[in-house]
Amino acid sequence: MPHPSSATQVSDDQRREPILSVRQLEVDFGGPQKAVVDVSLDLFPGEILGVAGQSGSGKSLTALAALGLAPTNAHINGSIRFKGKELIGASESERAKVRGSGMTMIFQETVTALNPVVQIERQMELALRANVECSKAQARERIVEALNDVQLRDVERVLHSYPYELSGGMCQRVMIAMALVCGADILFADEPTTALDVTVQREVMDIIRKVTDERELAVMLISHDIGVLDEVSDQLAVMYRGRVVETGPSSAVIADPGHPYTQALISSIPRIHGAHNEFIEMPQLDFEEFEPLHHPAREGVA
Ligand SMILES: Nc1ncnc2c1ncn2[C@@H]1O[C@H](COP(=O)(O)OP(=O)(O)O)[C@@H](O)[C@H]1O
Ligand SMILES: [Mg+2]
Repeated sequence: MPHPSSATQVSDDQRREPILSVRQLEVDFGGPQKAVVDVSLDLFPGEILGVAGQSGSGKSLTALAALGLAPTNAHINGSIRFKGKELIGASESERAKVRGSGMTMIFQETVTALNPVVQIERQMELALRANVECSKAQARERIVEALNDVQLRDVERVLHSYPYELSGGMCQRVMIAMALVCGADILFADEPTTALDVTVQREVMDIIRKVTDERELAVMLISHDIGVLDEVSDQLAVMYRGRVVETGPSSAVIADPGHPYTQALISSIPRIHGAHNEFIEMPQLDFEEFEPLHHPAREGVA
């Protein structure tokens, strides 16, 4: 059966094949409104897809469904293909295998994601050796390389630290390194910098950009703040009440937002030189009235 195309996908001669292809995804808890409705997205190696939208718009559930980690009471429909292979309906052991080496996730709460009583080196070694067969010496080499890639200085000290001995920004770098060390192709980064202060936020975003380029990662970068996604993302998808309402190259969406919800999100970005930032009330929009909007990819996008 042919796979229906999504608006974030352009013709094959313009771009490579997506590594992850989500089609008509629905996540339903049986409530009056589905949590995720008809979401179609593609992730490409070497690209960051920024997913923006206010709290409760279905961003995390989209990522969790792709990872096979949505709550067990969620009914999931649609298609999620990883390297062409359908994951919806796949067994838990298959999903776990894909998670271990194929895709991984980092969260806002590094504190809960890292084990507080185990030194960083040991944690990284356990994560690596659970997924990749290698000797202790090879493991050490890969771990040091990954920590260097996320620009952690003083790697020796980090290796022998417990999480509480590291800053929030350092923990987030360790989380990214942990994803890299297992050789993941896809990184879901769910509000990875929301708990960090602005300068550290910027550094972590720059590292995500750098490792995306160097390791040809495909990244879904989730934030309620379209302003932090803007500069670092190649493509943007804006979610509103469980649906994707606008997609396209990041620059096109920011320069020329067509959907009133995207316009409201963009006008709420704090500006240094603005008079002062007014509180923007998010519009209550009728989906019948406003169709989803898909900007074409720019010409010559590789
Ligand atoms: N375990 C759950 N049970 C019932 N409803 C849920 C559950 N998790 C999430 N939801 C619903 O799905 C919506 C979207 O959640 P989520 O994907 O976490 O939003 P976001 O990440 O954009 O803030 C929530 O507003 C909530 O209504
Ligand atoms: Mg969320």
